[in-house]
Amino acid sequence: MLYNFDEIIDRRNTGSLKWHYSDDTIALWVADMDFRAAQPILKTIEQVGQHGVLGYTKPTAALYESIINWHGNRYGLALDKQHILFSPGVIPSLVLMMRIFTEVGDAVLVNDPIYAPFMTKVGDNGRQLILSALKEGEGRYQLDLADIEAKIVAHKVKLFLLCNPHNPGGRVWTVDELESLLLICKKHDVAIVSDEIHQDLTLSGHEFIPFLGLAKDYEHKVVSITSMTKTFNVAGIKGSMIFAKDEALIEKISQQQRLSDEHDLNLFAYEVMRSAYEQGDEWLAQALTYIEANINLVCDFLAQHLPDIRVMRPEASYLIWLDCSAYDQDDQTLYDQLRAARVELSAGIQYGNEGQFKMRLNVACPQALLIEGLNRIHAAFNDIKS
Ligand SMILES: Cc1ncc(COP(=O)(O)O)c(C=O)c1O
Repeated sequence: MLYNFDEIIDRRNTGSLKWHYSDDTIALWVADMDFRAAQPILKTIEQVGQHGVLGYTKPTAALYESIINWHGNRYGLALDKQHILFSPGVIPSLVLMMRIFTEVGDAVLVNDPIYAPFMTKVGDNGRQLILSALKEGEGRYQLDLADIEAKIVAHKVKLFLLCNPHNPGGRVWTVDELESLLLICKKHDVAIVSDEIHQDLTLSGHEFIPFLGLAKDYEHKVVSITSMTKTFNVAGIKGSMIFAKDEALIEKISQQQRLSDEHDLNLFAYEVMRSAYEQGDEWLAQALTYIEANINLVCDFLAQHLPDIRVMRPEASYLIWLDCSAYDQDDQTLYDQLRAARVELSAGIQYGNEGQFKMRLNVACPQALLIEGLNRIHAAFNDIKS
């Protein structure tokens, strides 16, 4: 079927995190899409409701098969049922992995900039946060491998938290980059947890590589964590997966999950996950085409009207990283000016020191909304200049 991504659905007063302002501010910030979910997913939710009995539920064989097929067919990642664990969210899994691979006081290495909980959860859990700034080259971020290795050695780092693809920079790390990183981590016995929640939103011309697939002789130290929520825009349902291949590691993770009784998802999450992986591909392909058109629209608009803003074109996902340093205003001032123009973006500073003078723009919305949002951004920056 043909999906209509142009439809504007009012999300205000629904408890939506994104559309929290009750005035007509256009929300182009937090990472969810303003698109209706895929028909098979909505039908599944209806069917579960109509069945009427919502008791304790276990993952079914069909669910495991759908996850195995999705990851095998798309990315060549060979998974068996025993490699798959469930968790309420990718960030809860990130914290769980920190507890598995490190002790209080240990150093954890993270890139800068990065999705904020990568940084905050390290400190919140009594670990030492070490940052390695990404380098900018040819309009995109690159890992600074020399800096990563130096920091691993200097701080006796135990764990590297990788964001693959990267939020907010939109990089889809290449095999070469990932293998180089793996080599360094192996050399210094550093575990790697790869957050791959943006994997399925990889854009044309790029190839997502699941980190676990590269880690053949290092599987006792590597975990991939991912979810259907970002891919299919069902973040309100909550639910995610942990992939690990080493038997002892899997047992350790399961044991930790049993301690807090956090291994089960709810019935809707299991069923949404299954139907998404079984039948969501048509919706996803169309959503990605629409998102790419929106990315082009933003790049063209900014090049024409606000050429002082440097745009980092994403290789995955619908988040565009904007360098506004030419305006020489701190993030809060930029945020406030945009808010005064009734458009909301994410202030870059929350993604780390490297986010200073940057803003993150979410383009996963109907084009008419995006165009109005861009006009308001244009007006706000014109005011800043004057
Ligand atoms: C890189 C990354 N990881 C994790 C999350 C959130 O995952 P969850 O809601 O499953 O905790 C996000 C949400 O934007 C994200 O961008």
